[in-house]
Amino acid sequence: MLRTHNCGELRESDEGKSVVLCGWVNSVREHGNVGFLDLRDRYGMTQIVLPEAKDARSLSPEDVLMVRGKVVKKPAPNKKLKTGSVEVHAESFSVLSRSDELPIDMGEDTTSSEETRLRYRFLDLRRNSMKERIIKRYRIIKAVRDFLDSEDFLEIETPMLTKSTPEGARDFLVPSRIKKGRFFALPQSPQMYKQILMIAGFDRYFQIARCFRDEDLRADRQLEFTQIDIEMSFVEEEDIMRLNEELVAYIWKNILGKHVKTPFRRMRYDEAIKDYGIDKPDLRLREKLFDVTGIFTLSEFKIFNSIAKRGLIKLLPVKAHFSKREISEFEGIVKSYGAKGLAWLSVKKEDGKRAVKGTLSKFVDAKELTELTGIEEGSFFFVGDTNRKVVNDSLGYLRNHLAALIGGHEDSFLWVTDFPLFETDAEGGITPTHHPFTSPLDEDIPLLEKDPLRVRSRAYDMVINGEEIAGGSIRIHDKDVQKRIFRLLGIDEKAAERKFGFLLNAFSYGAPPHGGIAYGLDRLVAMITESSSIRDVIAFPKNKRGTALMEDAPSSVDEKQLDELGIEIKNSDE
Ligand code: AMO
Repeated sequence: MLRTHNCGELRESDEGKSVVLCGWVNSVREHGNVGFLDLRDRYGMTQIVLPEAKDARSLSPEDVLMVRGKVVKKPAPNKKLKTGSVEVHAESFSVLSRSDELPIDMGEDTTSSEETRLRYRFLDLRRNSMKERIIKRYRIIKAVRDFLDSEDFLEIETPMLTKSTPEGARDFLVPSRIKKGRFFALPQSPQMYKQILMIAGFDRYFQIARCFRDEDLRADRQLEFTQIDIEMSFVEEEDIMRLNEELVAYIWKNILGKHVKTPFRRMRYDEAIKDYGIDKPDLRLREKLFDVTGIFTLSEFKIFNSIAKRGLIKLLPVKAHFSKREISEFEGIVKSYGAKGLAWLSVKKEDGKRAVKGTLSKFVDAKELTELTGIEEGSFFFVGDTNRKVVNDSLGYLRNHLAALIGGHEDSFLWVTDFPLFETDAEGGITPTHHPFTSPLDEDIPLLEKDPLRVRSRAYDMVINGEEIAGGSIRIHDKDVQKRIFRLLGIDEKAAERKFGFLLNAFSYGAPPHGGIAYGLDRLVAMITESSSIRDVIAFPKNKRGTALMEDAPSSVDEKQLDELGIEIKNSDE
């Protein structure tokens, strides 16, 4: 080793030792006739007194140094540093590598744009908050492995070069050189492999699995992301939910030092939509939505009066008051989900009387709202539309926004169950709500062909603080039911054979009942580290437009490479 200690290690008890430290210059300064620097590495920072004051002038931030010297007790300790009770009086030092002038602001509250930070990710990752996130990510993964290992799970890798797995996104394709004109797909998830592992008898599988989905990006989505992927045999919903509650409680205890109450609350999908508008309600806020369509059938408020005849009007009450600016921000939120506007009312008690303000103050009886909601004072938000989904989505997401703003401090853990097996797609056909391997509820199987949209599934989502952190289901393990589902989805026998033949074939040789779940690991880490985007918890993420800025990918390739693959570019963005 070039060093005897790391930069976070020295304490008062090391006084008098001769040491060698290596690290980056965090800051360097001349003070009176003495030159100081803070030397930093992954473990911390140590103050160095340079041999001569003028040495300070020869050094720049982020130079890499090796410093040889003696540990000396500081007269006045720096309480902010773990090593703050000592400093190293350097006898000599050498510069192992010089740093150019820095292209990014490396302060904790950096002023650099995310694009610049991503381009110079090696510098960005040296910042303490980024470093801590990456370390915490590792610790979370380690906790997952420890817990699942103690529960008899085996970690088994599955291929990256594979066949398309239908998780609802576009595939990334990899052309084959050996079989020109053919393509591998990168896995959208290891779904089919983990089911085949169950058929192969590995009854408890997990994998920290990389998944690839060519879909539109958001703060919580990446083109490649990581799942904690789990599958179990001879189980029902409750077994999987129980085990995963314990896993989450283990992570919360080991990483956050917090106790999580189990079992988590369970809520059916239709109950979630009715009471909270969306299938991932944040229960840190207690208030539910109310259907108030009836209140407006005879209203003089024209817009709602006409909607009341053909549509839905819902109310979100909250025990809080907001400024005009905040309300206009809330209006922006509901509009982003298609609402045309946000009507509101605020009720305050003054001298025993109700003081009512807001767009609906002339049209709604505040007393009636209090009777309906049990809320005497607060804000009442209304959205009405002929499209029910617009009403539910916009108030549901506004509600989740308010939960993060004014909800309780305890994390909210929830299972949402009984999702519909299918939903309508953009072309008016049906598509699986989860994926086509999800089992329908036994009692709904007779409805499959008659009324597919009414069929409920054995799927469940784990929702933490209003975010879908994990999703899974009990799978179909009967070849004939699986074939019926494919048929309903418009996948004929031939196509099913071509796409999923290997799975259907495996079902013919003794398939155990099985089910599983997958967590969005990046989302879980972002939540635990209170990061606003999953990009902050991935060492090398793509930017919002799906580009890797540091390495400049995707990029064009040589003509020769294309020739070898038998590929010609028809359209290019360049
Ligand atoms: P699903 O598609 O619901 O299920 O994915 C599981 C979890 O992965 C996370 N996630 C993402 N995270 C970041 N970027 C993305 N683009 C992205 N897409 C999904 C979410 C989600 O809850 N095979 C099934 C699981 C199963 O049935 O066992 C699956 O992949 O947190």
